Amino acid sequence: MSESAGTSESASGLSARVVVTPSNGEAETSGYEVRIRPGLLEELPAALRERAPAARYAVISDSTVAELYGNRVLDTLRRAGLNAELLVFPAGEAHKNRESWMDLSDRLLASRHGRDTTVLALGGGVTGDLAGFVAATYMRGLPLVQLPTTVLAMIDSSVGGKTGVDTPGGKNLIGAFLQPRFVLADTGTLRTLAPAEVRAGLAEAVKHGAIADGGYFRWISESVEPLLALDPSATVRLIGRSVEIKAAVVGADERENGLRKTLNFGHTVGHAIEARSAFSLLHGEAIAIGMVVEADLGEALGITEPGTTARIRELLERLGLPVTVPAGFTAAEVIELTRADKKARAGNVEYALLERIGTSSPGDGKFGIAVRDEDVAAALGRCRG
Ligand SMILES: NC(=O)c1ccc[n+]([C@@H]2O[C@H](COP(=O)([O-])OP(=O)(O)OC[C@H]3O[C@@H](n4cnc5c(N)ncnc54)[C@H](O)[C@@H]3O)[C@@H](O)[C@H]2O)c1
Ligand SMILES: [Zn+2]
Repeated sequence: MSESAGTSESASGLSARVVVTPSNGEAETSGYEVRIRPGLLEELPAALRERAPAARYAVISDSTVAELYGNRVLDTLRRAGLNAELLVFPAGEAHKNRESWMDLSDRLLASRHGRDTTVLALGGGVTGDLAGFVAATYMRGLPLVQLPTTVLAMIDSSVGGKTGVDTPGGKNLIGAFLQPRFVLADTGTLRTLAPAEVRAGLAEAVKHGAIADGGYFRWISESVEPLLALDPSATVRLIGRSVEIKAAVVGADERENGLRKTLNFGHTVGHAIEARSAFSLLHGEAIAIGMVVEADLGEALGITEPGTTARIRELLERLGLPVTVPAGFTAAEVIELTRADKKARAGNVEYALLERIGTSSPGDGKFGIAVRDEDVAAALGRCRG
């Protein structure tokens, strides 16, 4: 196992830096830097020259983010003498699909991009996953740089190398691993993000505390107000610590054979609820409900310390996140949808459960715990509004 560095610089100040070192045994993944600070996009040209020199840069962005930051990023690159082009796709999860992948790839081909192009993913998780998958497949792979603009993308999707698109049969079913050359999280961009999107991103931070760091969970509990107000230093600290946790997990297990599964806490039920809502719930909102249900499930199975569910529910509620299974979502429907999830290997739906706040249960030693349908149904029943 290689060093899964989580070296944070002045985590309490206005900037943080984390080095992510995935250990998949491939020489090219020697580690990359995640930098976190307001205003970082101004430093993009220098970072590209140093870490991702290329003949041309293809900036891929959704329509909303392109409108807000696309021209600013293009101007910054062009002023620095870099050859850059902006490719826009319609915003929204519904467009993280093969059609968008094909359209973007065709546009790269039409403007004769070659293997000397680097892809810059400017936007939220949808953009990172889609642009990342375009980069992973275009001419068998172009270098990728992640420029996340949502809390979720900064703490989760831009780190770890998973890219992909959805299909009518489920989310993220077609994809590839591609680690970015580096990640610049310009926290200043979060100012334009819808408050509901900020809260949804914070749900993933709660998850990081719950699975790996009780002290971090407590700090989030004590920092709800500054976090919701996007206070610059609280925001940088949150993103820095969450990236460290994700980096440590991914560093130990890039391909999800064991430890990486702990990141699925709340996600087995959460993904099913997200799908059942026909994506009217945000990912983070569905995951908030999923964490409550899975903590309750763990308590009922005697795996999770009693009282854990109440603490998680209370924090999520204070963050303004939903914590109950919506009326009309039957247990049978939700359980059926957990089977569609690709984590269901050989028919057994696996859960990542907690031992207590800050510690994941190792389960069978591989962090996946097979749970009977009736136990899941009972937990869903207890977590209704
Ligand atoms: N690859 C991974 O490891 C990983 C991990 C977690 C989630 N994901 C994926 O991430 C996606 C969700 O990401 P998301 O929540 O960032 O969604 P998103 O990319 O759709 O962004 C949410 C919304 O905010 C808008 N937006 C983005 N940045 C903005 C800004 N700075 N100001 C104003 N508006 C802005 C977007 O246009 C969009 O409408 C899902 O598809 C999920 O599967 C991937
Ligand atoms: Zn998630």
